[in-house]
Amino acid sequence: MERTFVMIKPDGIQRGLAGGILSRFEMKGFKIVAAKFGILPEAIVDKHYEEHQAKPFFPGMKAYITSGPVFRFVLEGENVVATVRKMNGATNPAEAAPGTVRGDYALSIGKNVIHAADSPTSADREIGIHFAKSELVAYEKIDEPHIYD
Ligand code: CMP
Repeated sequence: MERTFVMIKPDGIQRGLAGGILSRFEMKGFKIVAAKFGILPEAIVDKHYEEHQAKPFFPGMKAYITSGPVFRFVLEGENVVATVRKMNGATNPAEAAPGTVRGDYALSIGKNVIHAADSPTSADREIGIHFAKSELVAYEKIDEPHIYD
């Protein structure tokens, strides 16, 4: 079963959106297999956003993402990577469709409420950066026969 990495950013926490957003994913049918709340260590930010390090927005983004607590979690389910990306909407909230997290809750690209891995390869990489293997919980959820064909 596929897994993805999701992070509610400091703006989402400060605005009290974390519970409602997690609830969207739970109601869709995805399973929570790990979760963590706190301020990101600098080394984790550098690893996570490695591909953006040379970009002009990186210093501001790094200062922002470490400015307050974030809520990180791992979700599991069929096509979870692509589905969560769709549910979040376009990275730039101005282009995010209504009904998506960013379409409903965000106005600017730097404060776009949520991050989710963009491919199964990125998901594996990001889960490995943020969670130890022992923190990923394998369990059966009783509603699975009612969610999957
Ligand atoms: P995220 O999915 O977390 O990946 C990189 C983040 O950089 C992105 O979401 C944005 O929140 C942030 N960011 C800030 N400024 C820009 C920008 N000009 N272009 C793209 N991403 C930006």
